Amino acid sequence: MTDNSKILTANKIHKTYRMGAARVKVLKGVDLTVKTGEFVAIVGSSGSGKSTLLHILGALDKPDSGTVKYLDMELTAARNGQLNRYRNKTVGFVFQFYHLLEELNVLENVYIPTMVSKSVFGWFGVRSEAKKRARRLLEQLGLSDRLKHKPYQLSGGERQRVAIARALMNKPDLLLADEPTGNLDSKTGNSILKIFDELHSQGQTIVMVTHDDNIAARAQRIVALQDGVIKGKNKCAPLK
Ligand SMILES: Nc1ncnc2c1ncn2[C@@H]1O[C@H](COP(=O)(O)OP(=O)(O)OP(=O)(O)O)[C@@H](O)[C@H]1O
Ligand SMILES: [Mg+2]
Repeated sequence: MTDNSKILTANKIHKTYRMGAARVKVLKGVDLTVKTGEFVAIVGSSGSGKSTLLHILGALDKPDSGTVKYLDMELTAARNGQLNRYRNKTVGFVFQFYHLLEELNVLENVYIPTMVSKSVFGWFGVRSEAKKRARRLLEQLGLSDRLKHKPYQLSGGERQRVAIARALMNKPDLLLADEPTGNLDSKTGNSILKIFDELHSQGQTIVMVTHDDNIAARAQRIVALQDGVIKGKNKCAPLK
């Protein structure tokens, strides 16, 4: 039976990078459970493996061993088609460096996840709805007057808001964010965190990685990645 209260369960995740003869053991048995609707922050120093872990949770990378389950689906055992759907529909990813497509304008960057999930004919059928949704998301994020801008014509905070709109485009069950405020001044960073607060209060499940304790304090629960494992796993008291 599916336990819907647990949206994501990582069990004994190991990951080692090999660089020539050298081996760097990054994750050494990470256990993490995320409940539906939770806002969890993963903290840890630079190089502790936060991005590695988030990529594994988002199926952008594979662990050497261990399992990740999204509801009943084990990512580590899933077929390519299932994984592509998971990456495109279930998860919304926000990256530290935005990763917007420079040749596309703001509106196009936001609706591209819907476009790539459809066949050419499928896209014709949903195109106008998708554009409407993209416009609405951009409006909610205060970017209505930037729809035709290219990413290089935007500030860092504006780019990150575009990236958030893109991540939300396919109504993801799970928002994964890697240092979403890492390149922003504290005022702009705060406005991004406010957006996360609002999404969380609307029921969005969020896992956010940060090396900054003040930013982590905005989450509902904090777990620390240290020496390749989660310390005090899942035991931190909710902050609010
Ligand atoms: N593709 C790779 N090949 C080899 N080593 C890697 C690779 N990716 C990451 N590493 C190493 O794994 C370790 C963890 O990297 P990761 O990016 O997960 O850390 P992080 O906690 O996100 O750090 P930061 O806070 O600086 O972003 C680092 O020591 C890094 O050098
Ligand atoms: Mg990182």
